[in-house]
Amino acid sequence: MAEKDSEKDSEKEEEQRDVDIELETIEGKAQEEKLGEVCAADTGPPNSVITMKILSRPDTLRLGQPIVIKSDTLLYYSLIMRLYYPPNPTAERFANSPFTELIPPSDVEGVRGKEFYGLADLSCLKVLPKRDFDDINYQEFMREFDTIPPIFSIGRDVTEEEFNLIYQESEFTEAFGTLRGFHLEVPLDFAKLVKKPFGLFGRTGIGKSILNKILALFILKHNVSQMVLFDMQGEYGLYSRADNTKGLAYFYQDKIQMYLLSTLKKGDTVIDGSEQFFVYKQNISASDIIASAQNLNEPTINVLYRIEDLVNDGAAGYDNLLDAINGIDADIDDAINPHSLRALRNRIVRFDRYGFIKDKGTRTDEDSIQNMFTRLKEGKSIVVDFGRYGANTHLYLFIANMITRRLYSIYNQREDDPDLPPLTIILEEAHKFLQPNIIRYTVFDRIAREMRKFQLTLGFVDQRPSQIDEEVYSQIANTFVMHMNDERDINTVVKTLPNAKKWKGVITGLQKRQVFVRGDAIAVPTIIDVLDYTDEENLKKKLEIKVPLSDTMKEIENSDMSQLFPEDEE
Ligand SMILES: Nc1ncnc2c1ncn2[C@@H]1O[C@H](COP(=O)(O)OP(=O)(O)OP(=O)(O)O)[C@@H](O)[C@H]1O
Ligand SMILES: [Mg+2]
Repeated sequence: MAEKDSEKDSEKEEEQRDVDIELETIEGKAQEEKLGEVCAADTGPPNSVITMKILSRPDTLRLGQPIVIKSDTLLYYSLIMRLYYPPNPTAERFANSPFTELIPPSDVEGVRGKEFYGLADLSCLKVLPKRDFDDINYQEFMREFDTIPPIFSIGRDVTEEEFNLIYQESEFTEAFGTLRGFHLEVPLDFAKLVKKPFGLFGRTGIGKSILNKILALFILKHNVSQMVLFDMQGEYGLYSRADNTKGLAYFYQDKIQMYLLSTLKKGDTVIDGSEQFFVYKQNISASDIIASAQNLNEPTINVLYRIEDLVNDGAAGYDNLLDAINGIDADIDDAINPHSLRALRNRIVRFDRYGFIKDKGTRTDEDSIQNMFTRLKEGKSIVVDFGRYGANTHLYLFIANMITRRLYSIYNQREDDPDLPPLTIILEEAHKFLQPNIIRYTVFDRIAREMRKFQLTLGFVDQRPSQIDEEVYSQIANTFVMHMNDERDINTVVKTLPNAKKWKGVITGLQKRQVFVRGDAIAVPTIIDVLDYTDEENLKKKLEIKVPLSDTMKEIENSDMSQLFPEDEE
């Protein structure tokens, strides 16, 4: 009897569940808005596309927006690559005529079955089985566009559940923004990001530095890599001199070591422990001078290397390259052409003005670059603040090459040292180092190619990706692309994407603070609305910073920084 009861109970339960499920599906159906139906598809080659006839006004859709096409067995996760009206002789004939007013607007808007409608070309990124997402295996999850949906399959917005399946979260994922036009946060894997070179590109004033700061903050939060940042505009320290937004040290004072190239001005605030940057003349190499000069010709470069050899062999009569160039007699060596020597001298005149280049003489203390290495081993990330030298490109190239070259050589010599922290060197204006004609003389070429094995990575922030040496560009594993105008730059960033041409429209259509991201740190190529950097509370929450930052700031403002305000050297 009791058994029967329980049987009945379970029957009832079953029934109830059926009803629930049915309701759910009905509700689900009611929620999901149909955006259109498939009217053509092609896996290619050459063109891989699903074409959807748009149900309502095309201007409710945007390039880059995700659309899910569903058949009875599969879900096609796709992005809109092109929106257009097919050629329509009737529309052409009636446009600009009084007859247009005779066609009721509702007929024009309701597209289905009418004369006038728009089409959307979609690029399918994933083909998923349509069933319980919990038992989708890896192989199924990785399936790409290898079949086509039935004609008239429905297209609709992505659901949160589908989104979460595609953009899986893990220990090192963080969202620096939301899927454009939706409230869905897009996770990016920061541990993967710092493993290989990455690039952040976009025209001037579009939000590159702010996004770079956000990325750097998450890198700091997770300790997945330490960083060296060459801060030309003074944006990354405590506050940005450019727009007064907060810098990295504002949030993570203890994780940042700042070096200042120029002396401070009244009103500048820096964090405790900031140091005045200096290097010994004796540590300057030919490569630093070539990077800085940018356009030395071949014979001049040869003379420079010859002089460097003489200095290294002790045959020049000088213990450093700068003094040797200035003082050496061209007659000392056949390879030294007087004309090239004069050209070289002209190029290094400017080095006399820099107070931070010191003569080692009998000094025994380590210069700032050696000191940086000590700080890196203590777990700090480095911000090199260029201060009033911010607009001096030559100096920037000189310093960045010298610091990177010496860190590289330390990493190179200690390949097996487990104490070496993973390091990401972030370069603004990267193309200036990475132009095909100078790159082979700089250290960046080698790093981009081979340093992954030493845990040394480069991050490029730049306006002109098209000017970066092709081979180095091809090493970039993750790309962040903001709005760009220049055709050549756009061609460069889409080049390696399947359907390259179609992505161009997506990139031209980006607005300020929007970024197109692709690479192995993100599930699929995505357009993201970057979070509001001025919303400090939100940022603190994401960074899991619990202390009130105002206290730390008071401490900084009250601390004695007088050693950093000596007499100005100019
Ligand atoms: N995510 C954001 N949150 C809040 N403000 C932002 C954001 N992104 C950009 N801005 C605003 O846009 C301005 C320009 O951004 P940013 O300095 O990052 O541009 P950029 O691309 O680095 O420019 P440049 O090429 O001149 O270096 C910032 O000063 C800031 O006011
Ligand atoms: Mg910038």
